[in-house]
Amino acid sequence: TDRSEELTRVAQLTAALEGVPAALVVWDAEGREVLRNQAATAFAGGRHGDALVESAVRDQLRGALAGEPSARDLEVFGPPRRALVVAALPILEDDALVGAVAVVEDVSERRRLEAVRRDFVANISHELKTPVGALGLLAETLTSEEDPAVVRRLADRIVSEAFRVARTIDELLDLSRIEAEGEVRHEPVAVARVVGEAIQRVRPLAVSRSITLDVDVPRRHSVRGDRPQLVSAVANLLENACKYSDEGSLVQVRSRSDGTAVEIDVCDAGIGIPTRDLERVFERFYRVDRARSRETGGTGLGLAIVRHVAGNHGGEVQVRSQEGEGSVFTLRLPAGPGVVGLPAGSGTTGLPAQAG
Ligand SMILES: Nc1ncnc2c1ncn2[C@@H]1O[C@H](COP(=O)(O)OP(=O)(O)OP(=O)(O)O)[C@@H](O)[C@H]1O
Ligand SMILES: [Mg+2]
Repeated sequence: TDRSEELTRVAQLTAALEGVPAALVVWDAEGREVLRNQAATAFAGGRHGDALVESAVRDQLRGALAGEPSARDLEVFGPPRRALVVAALPILEDDALVGAVAVVEDVSERRRLEAVRRDFVANISHELKTPVGALGLLAETLTSEEDPAVVRRLADRIVSEAFRVARTIDELLDLSRIEAEGEVRHEPVAVARVVGEAIQRVRPLAVSRSITLDVDVPRRHSVRGDRPQLVSAVANLLENACKYSDEGSLVQVRSRSDGTAVEIDVCDAGIGIPTRDLERVFERFYRVDRARSRETGGTGLGLAIVRHVAGNHGGEVQVRSQEGEGSVFTLRLPAGPGVVGLPAGSGTTGLPAQAG
């Protein structure tokens, strides 16, 4: 019959509304509540913040019954702090007002992402503008310079600034690629191979600063993951260890395994990191001392890359450091199946930077 069909339809609609993640409240034309879904029950008769939401819902519904569709932002100071949008619409049937519906949507996460993106764009613009501005000035000076020694010096600086921009862009591309790869490969990879390839990348830097790289990575240690990403992570840790230590010092790479996880330590006896900065060094663009880091030519993206790689692999990265003593960064990753094939000659112990 029509009646039972209608009842089924109502039941289906009610069930559907229950499943909607947003909170929904429906009033009839007289302002009586006729429906409140699961998500909306939370703030009926709730604590302070919830009471605020409930009263905003009522205000909006009253407005909607007066024929005014509207939406307003509402900040609930929590905890947790939430940003909500409370919207209400009149419900019309053949042009007659039969009720109103209010929807409460939690937009906290969206707002947070918007803020992150704004910061990111502001930071990156600044990071690129500084060296590009320097390039412009240097080139301008160069055009009116006659002295060959000065010309030479200016040209050298142009080259190094250009490399700086290129490096920043490379790192950004790396980071966005690593962030975009939701699914990383989970192939067995020998730790010694990852470390060996990472060392290849930083060897020129280590040699130029007379730093000895000491490696103690047993052949049997393996992890599961994406080799290029892992190499990039370890290379970033090694690069920092070399950059933020005195010339001629020692940088060590060690690995440990308990069968479920492998820990790769990168230790230096360098300048260390003040305790108050330890939490923040993994943020994009964060550098402990801008002046000092500018001298060492960093962007502040290296550790953000490391943290992302660790996260992509279900692992983590930790740091212990003492100012003036040195730092130990530990990359913890799920262990692989044991011995994995190594290319000949890699994965040795006590490999000095000068060798090979
Ligand atoms: N081994 C370390 N010893 C001392 N300070 C470190 C070490 N590693 C990182 N830091 C500090 O943490 C900051 C962030 O490191 P990160 O690798 O993210 O950036 P960066 O080295 O400045 O630039 P990039 O790696 O992008 O070239 C560095 O600027 C530095 O101040
Ligand atoms: Mg770095």
